[in-house]
Amino acid sequence: MTAAVRVENLSKTYHTRQRKGLFKSEKRDVVALQDVTLEVQPGEIFGLLGPNGAGKTTLIKIITTLLLPSSGQAWVNGYHIEKESNRVRASVGCMLMGERGLYWKLTGRENLAYFAALYHIRPELRKQRIQDTIDLTGLGEYADRSVETYSSGQKMKLAFAKSLINDAPLLVLDEPTNTLDVLSASELRAVVRQLHAQGKTIIYTTHIMSEAETLCDRVAIIDRGLLLALDDVSALKASLGREQVTRIDGVIPTKAVQAVQALPMVQKATLVLQDGSGQLTVLSDNSPGMLSRLIESLTTNGAVIQRIAPEEVTLEDVFIAKTGRTLAEDTRQLEKG
Ligand SMILES: Nc1ncnc2c1ncn2[C@@H]1O[C@H](COP(=O)(O)OP(=O)(O)OP(=O)(O)O)[C@@H](O)[C@H]1O
Ligand SMILES: [Mg+2]
Repeated sequence: MTAAVRVENLSKTYHTRQRKGLFKSEKRDVVALQDVTLEVQPGEIFGLLGPNGAGKTTLIKIITTLLLPSSGQAWVNGYHIEKESNRVRASVGCMLMGERGLYWKLTGRENLAYFAALYHIRPELRKQRIQDTIDLTGLGEYADRSVETYSSGQKMKLAFAKSLINDAPLLVLDEPTNTLDVLSASELRAVVRQLHAQGKTIIYTTHIMSEAETLCDRVAIIDRGLLLALDDVSALKASLGREQVTRIDGVIPTKAVQAVQALPMVQKATLVLQDGSGQLTVLSDNSPGMLSRLIESLTTNGAVIQRIAPEEVTLEDVFIAKTGRTLAEDTRQLEKG
């Protein structure tokens, strides 16, 4: 069976210039992808998970032919991204983050009609296809308003509708729920599940762990351009099998975090601060007495514990175990040893 996507040793370095004062600039290379190899199988929802700047959009742009790789190869639905780029484009529906690519003076429906024509959808099919897409994505009453009057969430939905217009076997969605409210996001995921049930292959990019966890069959975790892990969600979690995750909410001074990190059975302790209080996630061996030693080191070092609970391992914990960081931006990085 031909893979929906095959990526072989893909690397991408951006060559940029960094401003140094008013008239000076300096060459700077940004390595966005490093030697990534992976395959997406037909019919799966494949999650691409990673924090800001991990390289997700870069990978998406390469497989949708918007960007050339620095090295490596890729095939989409069996077509080579450089030698058969037209065929690649015809066989993918793509939604990139942001609303660029929509025509602001046109209505949502007119935008869809324009893209339907670009994809050479037969004129007798077009009207119905556009209506079906509008219904499916819940564009509803604002489909006939000009896009410049849309809210950012409405533009996001139109961008999603646009990715469905060519009814391609592969859908590539780059953070499609970004800027959507909770309800709209969950509606979009429901449509994704429906499309998946109809047999479409979906690549779904997100930095929200729980989203990848509930939606995806397999997940690739990327960070700083590197593929760190790729497996079923359950297998990724099982990879932390003998370990225990404990979460502690409260006021936790740095000294207490350091004391926890120094405990022999602790592998990692990561503190996330929120509005003055903190959440400490501790990855440790599941040894007897672990919890009491943890509490003791915290309280003797000035921590005020509001809640402490053993947790089920999540994808976030897998990420923490691999990188020592959480996906949150305001994380204080505290690596052991
Ligand atoms: N056109 C560009 N020129 C220079 N550097 C770039 C360019 N586009 C992306 N980068 C850099 O490449 C790295 C990967 O960026 P990319 O957009 O692929 O990340 P991402 O995983 O999609 O992040 P996010 O979650 O923020 O969307 C980042 O360090 C980014 O700053
Ligand atoms: Mg991105």
